[in-house]
Amino acid sequence: MCLISSISQLIKKKIKINTIVTIGGWVRNRRHSKLGISFINLYDGSCLNDIQVIASQKLVNYKNEILLINSGCCLKVKGKLQFSPKKLQVYELHALTIKIIGWVKNPESYPISPKKHTLKYLRKVLHLRPRTNIISSITRIKHNVGMYIRNFLHKRNFFWVNTPLITTLDTEGFSKMFRVSTLDLENLRNNKKDTSFFKKDFFGKEAFLTVSGQLNLEVYACSMSKVYTFGPTFRAENSNTNRHLAEFWMLEVEIAFANLKDIICFIEKMLKNIFENVINNNEDDLGFLSKKTKYDLVSKMNKILLNSFNIIKYTEAVELLQKNKSQFSRMINWGEDLSIEHEKYLVNKYFKGPVIIFNYPKNIKAFYMYLNDNKKTVASMDLLFPDIGEIIGGSQREDRIKILDERLKECGLNKNDYWWYRDLRKYGTVPHAGFGLGFERLISYIIGIYNIKDIMPFPRTPYNANF
Ligand code: 4AD
Ligand code: MG
Repeated sequence: MCLISSISQLIKKKIKINTIVTIGGWVRNRRHSKLGISFINLYDGSCLNDIQVIASQKLVNYKNEILLINSGCCLKVKGKLQFSPKKLQVYELHALTIKIIGWVKNPESYPISPKKHTLKYLRKVLHLRPRTNIISSITRIKHNVGMYIRNFLHKRNFFWVNTPLITTLDTEGFSKMFRVSTLDLENLRNNKKDTSFFKKDFFGKEAFLTVSGQLNLEVYACSMSKVYTFGPTFRAENSNTNRHLAEFWMLEVEIAFANLKDIICFIEKMLKNIFENVINNNEDDLGFLSKKTKYDLVSKMNKILLNSFNIIKYTEAVELLQKNKSQFSRMINWGEDLSIEHEKYLVNKYFKGPVIIFNYPKNIKAFYMYLNDNKKTVASMDLLFPDIGEIIGGSQREDRIKILDERLKECGLNKNDYWWYRDLRKYGTVPHAGFGLGFERLISYIIGIYNIKDIMPFPRTPYNANF
């Protein structure tokens, strides 16, 4: 083994007592006793706990270095693993050598001093905030949830497909997209109406960052049956809310020989599997985050595990909202999208749990959704969760070329741009369905922190792409 040990290996007793180990990490805090012993709490992000390093004055650099150590310093410690007399920690490390790798020469200016910081403050120091317990906890849970999702899909014969981030098509048909270009836009500014100059651009046509990998994923679903993509997606919407980012991660799943009912059932199974795994394998971080957020996160997820998701047709949801119109500042009419206050009412007050709304009117949904027999609604679904709102959007896909072409026309889209997507319906078409899950929103719900800027390591929002 050429790497140094992780503190999590010591804490979880994966290394035997009396073993001599080398660890590396940063000082959370330290205390120098008058008896010539220093107690240094070291963390390396591998787990929630710090390990206490005991340094005695016998160490050669005790006086001229160890006594000068501050919070934030980076150390490499070789020491003997011993049982700790303290109840809260199992092991401590009795140092044989301590090497100071990185000093904090000016501790007063260190932005992450051991005092408590608000999440809002931490958003200003993104480069140092993973050194706090809260951000490292979130990061570990996020990592684990990503793994649970991949394992869940892998075990059910899904293949991962990496769909492109650069695209010339707008998946949703009405998205605000970020342009990708190598043209000298400064010099082209006077020439606004003439778009022929894009022929000289890198891809020979207008290109953008993708808002969703779905259309490309459908290509693989119509050949390899069960597929998913998991990666960043980009939206140039000017929405500065707690649940919107310009760059966020989406899990997209696409299944051949499946309809709307099938994906609704699949989504519930997948999410419950994730929650079970989170509860069973993240005890320390969940406990810590529960204390911080004052939510009982385990009970919250257990409640979801014990109940079935509420499922309601869009039309029924509108009727229900209309009956309770005194609750809202704006009434909803059939054909309109639900606003946040409507969603909150359904999830938090009426159902008091997750709600799947399905069969939305076609005019508020994308061209690719399967047109129902009534020709007014499409086989679509949104999953709304308490406190965070929509975490999943999905649908059965329109697999009939004639109807797809009509929908493209109705939506003002040029069918020639979508020629390869249409080909899938010309050559061996298959009923299929899929969905997209907002990864940061799911994590936000799990950890009880309802601002996805605290979940994305380097959040991008309007006028904010620092770091
Ligand atoms: O509902 P959306 O727009 O669906 C699609 O993009 C489909 N093409 C997915 C598919 O069927 N394959 O986005 C899916 C999810 C939303 O439910 C939401 O959770 C999240 O992505 N999302 C955002 N998350 C953070 N910031 C934003 N700006 C988001 N926009 C959507
Ligand atoms: Mg949506």
